[in-house]
Amino acid sequence: MKKNKIYLGTSNKNKVKEASAILEKFGINLIHYPIERIEIQSDNLEEIAIFSLKNVHEKIPIVIEDAGLFINKFKGFPGPYSSYVLERLGNPGILKLMENVEDRTAKYISAIAYRDETGIHNFKGIVEGSIAFSIRGSNGFGYDPIFIPKEGKDQTFGEMSEQEKNLLSHRSRAFIALGKWLTE
Ligand code: IMP
Repeated sequence: MKKNKIYLGTSNKNKVKEASAILEKFGINLIHYPIERIEIQSDNLEEIAIFSLKNVHEKIPIVIEDAGLFINKFKGFPGPYSSYVLERLGNPGILKLMENVEDRTAKYISAIAYRDETGIHNFKGIVEGSIAFSIRGSNGFGYDPIFIPKEGKDQTFGEMSEQEKNLLSHRSRAFIALGKWLTE
């Protein structure tokens, strides 16, 4: 066991809930480290997460996640700009852009950067799926009510419980990889 207590730097409590449920299974206690992240502009989620990490100067084992929704028809838009687009267009705006679009395939990617005294380590999780035709469900956050994971039962993440989302999500996959590595 490399660590049994680490911090997650974020202002998003949903991320903390989802990630701590995963790490708990590895016997790791995840503690919320509240920060307003400074995000650089980059096409690369890993780079964004690492940059945010470097702005935390405290010497604690800490992880930062950068996630995004990548819509294939739009060559990966909004991708790294997901929070900006969500704030301005929201889910109704994405559905409007997708009107009459046949190829609705999309994916979520979670890139996490973890740092302790040994250095920075990166982990990634991806979930393939598609964009729904309407807003469905009110669970989760962000784009959850319009994203249908391919391996699910045609439900959006917004229609799933946190446990159901955690069986499939990009975030759970990235944090499982981190949990495995920390307990190796
Ligand atoms: P960030 O990682 O906090 O920069 O997230 C980027 C944007 O993607 C935010 O607007 C989030 O709401 C959205 N997002 C990230 N992960 C998820 C998720 O698991 N479900 C829904 N939206 C998400």
